[in-house]
Amino acid sequence: MDNSKKAIGVFDSGLGGISVLRDLKELMPNENFIYYGDSAYAPYGVKTKDEITKRCVEIIEFFIEKGVKAVVIACNTATSASANYLRKKYKDLPIIGMEPALKVATKGVKNNNIVVMATPLTLKEKKFEKLMNKFMGNNNVIKMPCPKLVEIVENDLIDDENVVLDQIKEYYKNIDMDNLDSVVLGCTHFIFYRDYLKKFLSQKTNLVDGNLGTCRHLKDILEEKNELNKEDNIGKIEIYNSSEDQKYINLSNKLLAR
Ligand code: DGL
Repeated sequence: MDNSKKAIGVFDSGLGGISVLRDLKELMPNENFIYYGDSAYAPYGVKTKDEITKRCVEIIEFFIEKGVKAVVIACNTATSASANYLRKKYKDLPIIGMEPALKVATKGVKNNNIVVMATPLTLKEKKFEKLMNKFMGNNNVIKMPCPKLVEIVENDLIDDENVVLDQIKEYYKNIDMDNLDSVVLGCTHFIFYRDYLKKFLSQKTNLVDGNLGTCRHLKDILEEKNELNKEDNIGKIEIYNSSEDQKYINLSNKLLAR
């Protein structure tokens, strides 16, 4: 089969990667996508590197069987824990990962205060330390692990304003909100909190994430390999989940349409 017609595999520990799938679909509507949510094993953010890598290998094997042309790790945590290993193991498969958009967050700062919201694992991994060394400069970068925000999405509570705002307030209780330049959404589950955070944070605070950068990066790679799907039709989306509970597929579709 002509590679350009093959699907793109996208996965996450659960439903956060749906926020990336949404952006991929918008940028490349002709492409076919296969999404795999690992909700039976979510959250990844409090697991070990080895546990996460094992799950990633199983998911990539699933995608290879499906004959994908590229894989997007729509998860900052899995990228920090396993992307290097996976790229060495699957040399012929383009594997695109994600990382907190710290570089963008440092642009135009006035008070030099930046918050990075991510999972505990992303924030304690070497990859993040390297990112900090490269881009933090003289900024004060506050690491904010927010595992509860992953649970809220997985439990279908994202539309419950009280639950969401109570949790956000709890995480921000010691932050000087008036002098905060940027907030990085360093976990794909957190994209679903954009509107809440926009209202909650000061208007001067810049909210950044890595979704679009990742989508564009994939597009460039496919373009370079001449593997963009040039067919006129709108592509298909297939959604799979490691949990047998149908509610995760329903919730994936709900978030995709959100
Ligand atoms: N969505 C994931 C990320 O971008 C991980 C959430 C989790 O399973 O802890 O980091």
